[in-house]
Amino acid sequence: MRRVIIAGNWKMNKNISESIDLANAIKRSLYNVEEVEIVVCPPFTSLSDVNEIVLESNIKLGAQDVYWEKEGAFTGEVSSPMLKNVGCEYCIVGHSERRQFFGETNETVNKKAKALLKEGIMPIVCVGEKLEDRKANKTFDVIKDHVTNSLAGLTKEDMRKVVIAYEPVWAIGTGVNATKEQAQEAHKYIRALLKDMFDGTVAESARIQYGGSVKPDNIKELISQEDVDGALVGGASLKADPFVQIVRGCL
Ligand code: PGA
Repeated sequence: MRRVIIAGNWKMNKNISESIDLANAIKRSLYNVEEVEIVVCPPFTSLSDVNEIVLESNIKLGAQDVYWEKEGAFTGEVSSPMLKNVGCEYCIVGHSERRQFFGETNETVNKKAKALLKEGIMPIVCVGEKLEDRKANKTFDVIKDHVTNSLAGLTKEDMRKVVIAYEPVWAIGTGVNATKEQAQEAHKYIRALLKDMFDGTVAESARIQYGGSVKPDNIKELISQEDVDGALVGGASLKADPFVQIVRGCL
């Protein structure tokens, strides 16, 4: 059985005191939820303070990006040992915003995932097509390219620690979510790719989140799909109420 995982991607939002308030509110409302794995991904500047709050709770800490080198002259970057040190158990890599605005490629996503795994941090690897890809019937091609190249060289053992987030770019922050059928179709395809790349056990045990305009009113139908194992939530994770409702919608 795959355990449902709901992660909140706060993106470039929340100063330290706002982060503390949000983390406290989420913790208070969800303290008794054990069935769903709950992750919050604040900006780097809030990781330490949020870690203090979620430490020894059922809420896990995640980062939004990482650099693959361990240390050194890489001004502005943060390494996986640093994320480990601040309490991160998860880290998003390859988010479409990073691919679009910061030159992230499958190759850099792959290096980042490997660096995280070395440190025992679980990568949440984002994949997904743009609207133009979908219109040109290239959805599966793009997904295949992202999945095979971002996960290249990982072992079956590594894959036990990897979460995949299918995030169609046209659904991110637009209010237009993929339908449950569109999500299921993509997730099923990703699982088939994992079977080809690794084996049936990896494919069956890998958790695949859906991301893109997930809200309290669409989570139930999305999570009801056979191959949808959770959600990566942006906008609706910035307030406690909708995020809590999304987690509770999976119970
Ligand atoms: P959204 O973002 O929920 O605001 O669409 C999802 C994401 O970018 O991970």
